[in-house]
Amino acid sequence: MSAEIIYKELIKKRLASEKLKFLRAPGRVNIIGEHTDYNQGLCLAGAFQKAIYFGFAPSGETEIISLKYNESWFPKSQHKMPDWAIYFKGGWDLLRQKGYSWPEFKLAFDGDLPVGSGLSSSSAIRCGFIYLLNELGSLGLSIDKLTEYAVVAEKASGLEGGMMDQISIFNGKKEQVLLIQCSDWNFKYIPVPEGPVSWMVVDTKVNHQLVYTDYNNRSRACKELLNTAQKLFSGLTNLSELTWDQITLLKESVSRQHLNFLIYINEENQRVLEMIDYFELKQFESIGQCLMRGHEGLRKLYQVSCKELDFLVDYAKNSELAFGARMMGGGFGGATIHLIPENLKDTYSKGIANAFLNRFAYQPDVFEVSFEEGIQLI
Ligand code: GLA
Repeated sequence: MSAEIIYKELIKKRLASEKLKFLRAPGRVNIIGEHTDYNQGLCLAGAFQKAIYFGFAPSGETEIISLKYNESWFPKSQHKMPDWAIYFKGGWDLLRQKGYSWPEFKLAFDGDLPVGSGLSSSSAIRCGFIYLLNELGSLGLSIDKLTEYAVVAEKASGLEGGMMDQISIFNGKKEQVLLIQCSDWNFKYIPVPEGPVSWMVVDTKVNHQLVYTDYNNRSRACKELLNTAQKLFSGLTNLSELTWDQITLLKESVSRQHLNFLIYINEENQRVLEMIDYFELKQFESIGQCLMRGHEGLRKLYQVSCKELDFLVDYAKNSELAFGARMMGGGFGGATIHLIPENLKDTYSKGIANAFLNRFAYQPDVFEVSFEEGIQLI
C-alpha cells in the first residue's frame, strides 16, 4: 500500500468529515550546492517521494493534531504548545500579522519523511501549512508569495538559513531537479539523467535540529566575511560573486578557517555548474566524483560533517559498487546521498547498513529516492 493511502486512512480515522481535503508536502533532496543558498549561489535540488500528509476540514474550533505524537495544538488557546507546533506557529503568526484570516478548522498530519535528517521535514511542515491556510482562507497568494512567507517563517524560528528547501518543496517536478539561482530565487528544471542508476539515501539517524548546531555560526561567519570583502571590493553583493583572484587577495584580511569557507563556496558553486554538464552527458562516473569532491569540501573546508556522515561517504569511496556519495543538507548529522548502479543497489544497501551497524551499533535507514512533484492537494 502506498504511503499516501496509509496516511489518508489514518487521517480519515481521526477526522471524520465529509469536507476533508488532503495535502502532500514532500521533503527535498539536494544533489549539489550545499550552504550556497544563503550565500546567493547555486544549488541543484528537488522534491522526493517521502512527505508529510495533512488532512483538514472546517470545524467549530481550530485544532492541529499530530498523529505521530497523539497531541494537539490549539493556536487560539493559552494551553502549553507541544514542541512540534513551532513548525506551524511561524506561518500562523506571520499570515495573521499580514492581516489574513481563514475559517476555523481541524487539521491532522503525519508522514514518512524522517525528522531531523537533513531532508527538510521542518520546511515541509511549514510550507504545507502555509499552502493549506491559503486554501482554507481562499487568500489567493501565488506560489512565489507562499515561498517567501515560508522562508520568513523559518527565519522567525531562529534558523538563519536560505530558500533552497522551500523553493524545491513548492516547485518540485517528477524526474526533475531545480537549478536554483539563489540571488534572485529564479530556477530552471533540469531532468535527472535516466540510466541504470539509483539515487540512494543513507540516513545516519543522528538527529539534528539545525538551529541548535553550528549552522547559524556558518551563516553568521559568511555575513562577517561579506562585510570584510565589501571593504575591499566595492559593489560586491554576495560571497558567491567573489572571483578566485579576489579570494587570494582576501588571504591577508581573514583567518585560515574563514578563507577555507570562501574557497568552499567558490568551488561548490563551480561544482553545481559541472554537475549540470555531467547530467546532460549522463556521465555517472563524473557525477559520483563530483559528489565526493562536494563532501570533501563540506568536511574539510566548511567543517559541517560528522563522523557518522564521513563513515558512510568513506564507505562509498572505498566500495567498487558506488559512483560516489556526499552528506546532504545543513550537516552535523542527517543523511547522505549515494549514486549506485541500479543492479547493485540491494548488495550495496546491505553492505553499507552492515558496516555502519558494526561501527556504530545501530542500523542506518537506507532507501532509494524518486524525484517527485512538489506540494499539491491530493
Ligand atoms: C538547511 C537549510 C537550507 C540550506 C541547507 C544547506 O537545509 O534549511 O537553507 O542552507 O541547510 O545547504
